Amino acid sequence: MRIYRYALSLAVAALPSAVFGWGQKGHDVTAAIAQRHLTARTLAAVDSLLDGKSLVYWANWLDNASHTPEYEYSKTWHYKNVDQKDTFETAALNPKGDVVRALLECCENLSSGTLSKKDAALALKMIVHLVGDIHQPMHLGRYSDRGGNMHVVSFFDRETNLHSVWDSSLPEAAHKWSYTEWADQIDRASPALSMQLVQDGPWQWAGETYEIAKEVYASTPVGYGISYDYIARWTPCVEQQFLKGGLRLAYLLNNIFDPVHTGNVVTGDE
Ligand code: ADE
Ligand code: ZN
Ligand code: ZN
Repeated sequence: MRIYRYALSLAVAALPSAVFGWGQKGHDVTAAIAQRHLTARTLAAVDSLLDGKSLVYWANWLDNASHTPEYEYSKTWHYKNVDQKDTFETAALNPKGDVVRALLECCENLSSGTLSKKDAALALKMIVHLVGDIHQPMHLGRYSDRGGNMHVVSFFDRETNLHSVWDSSLPEAAHKWSYTEWADQIDRASPALSMQLVQDGPWQWAGETYEIAKEVYASTPVGYGISYDYIARWTPCVEQQFLKGGLRLAYLLNNIFDPVHTGNVVTGDE
């Protein structure tokens, strides 16, 4: 009995390192917020490509798919590493790709209008996921610790790693909300602020997330014991990153599918 329990706890401990990206909640909230800001024309295009399924339905799909042979090429697409000796601008590019270049390429391909329906649906599913990942600070983490996966910390009485804390433990501790409750509570930016948040593009958004990652590393040394004060300090940041992800995802999709209405990209009004 004890040996089974030990084996089970080992299997459970191994789980977070097998997962890439915000945990499910972050991806679902990002997609749910975006869905509410699509223009009618974008919504129709998305509906058609996804056969009536929603952005939320596909938001987490790539985390699983990247572990299968068919989509193995996308394994490095969930993150971009910047080591301590580097700056965001000077960090070496991973030849296998990274979250910024993958996102830009998927957007470009989908915009071109030349993809088959199957390939266009694939690009869309990837964009939905990658916009989430580009807002998770540990997805702009260091290569030396594999984006915080090897940076051991404790979360209350449980030993874990900084990546896993930011993927899921911290968001889940921040609020005990469903993804729809999260979206209802944080999707309240004024039109002016929303407009400001969608400025620039994926490179700048990733650079901004990297600046947050530096602060996260500075406030969470190896061995740090995460408790209530840490959750209170970082909850507004998690909320902001989810909101930015949602508004920016809508902005990208509206630009792709309804460029005439780019003036309405933030509100989703026709
Ligand atoms: N997930 C797996 N490897 C990673 C890395 N090097 N950086 C961020 N996330 C990762
Ligand atoms: Zn991911
Ligand atoms: Zn992750």
